[in-house]
Amino acid sequence: MFAKIANAAQAAGLIFPEGILDALDASQVAGVNAFLLEGEPGTGKTHLGRAWAEMTGGNYVFAQANAWTSDESIIRGVDLSGFIERDPAKVYAAGALLKAARLAVDGRPTLVHLDEWDKTRPVADGLLLAALEERIVVDSAGNIHGRFDDNVIFWITSNATRPLHDALLRRLMRITLPRMSKTHATPLLQERAGVGQHTASALLALREKSRRPVTLPDLIRIGRTLQHVRTLDGARVIIAGLTGDDKFGADIWAAMGRDGKLPQRSEHKPLRATFEGDEFPEPLNAVCQAFSDAMGV
Ligand SMILES: Nc1ncnc2c1ncn2[C@@H]1O[C@H](COP(=O)(O)OP(=O)(O)O)[C@@H](O)[C@H]1O
Ligand SMILES: [Mg+2]
Repeated sequence: MFAKIANAAQAAGLIFPEGILDALDASQVAGVNAFLLEGEPGTGKTHLGRAWAEMTGGNYVFAQANAWTSDESIIRGVDLSGFIERDPAKVYAAGALLKAARLAVDGRPTLVHLDEWDKTRPVADGLLLAALEERIVVDSAGNIHGRFDDNVIFWITSNATRPLHDALLRRLMRITLPRMSKTHATPLLQERAGVGQHTASALLALREKSRRPVTLPDLIRIGRTLQHVRTLDGARVIIAGLTGDDKFGADIWAAMGRDGKLPQRSEHKPLRATFEGDEFPEPLNAVCQAFSDAMGV
């Protein structure tokens, strides 16, 4: 039995609008066995598939799609070691679909996760039709190598960099994961990146202002880094790298100031003078302290 998707999302700390989880779980209860998760990068498509498989247990086959995805990687390829070792049993290597069909023979719930399918060339869409429609694994010569029973569910994700073929879309339950709202993303960023509320909010505003795409995971990573930055220029370099623009770094630095998170001189580890393990008398330490403050070390 597959776990409830809503439970898997919750266990993984993923936040989605109630309607999304309701739609996903309703589809699954109704017997949908192939999903297409769409949405911009960083909306949780991949993480949710993994989390669902993890909570379900059973079998999990993950394949990252790319421009070279072909019948060899998806259905059946040739394994050269089979020729070298003259072992006919090894001449072919199972692709992701064939692997999944073989694993699923044990009857356990099996999730076939094909990630970022939009990265494939359009011809690759055809490779999935037989698997989704007739629930079989068939090679280009028409030989059937495996079947998918009801215990197999497909989880296909797409960042929508290209439209998928209509024939493929007709066989999939399409669900679009939205960009997380500011209300939900602000506390999430505070918690995961350790930034204050003003900084979280200023970082999230970059999703609209930046001409380069800025995703939630980008902001989590950048927020974490900003905490260790000691100068305005450091912050500007980081924000310019993210957005492709030099004009937002100062806003972020100002927000860090409003959150009281700018590095304080007193936070710096003072340079203390010691002599054979004993501390020098106070006046000398005071000079060292002033020196280390001035040097910013
Ligand atoms: N809805 C969400 N709730 C909580 N965290 C999220 C959500 N979406 C994305 N994230 C964060 O971003 C990371 C990357 O998400 P990911 O699943 O790789 O996105 P996608 O596959 O849509 O590009 C997640 O591991 C998580 O830390
Ligand atoms: Mg992804």
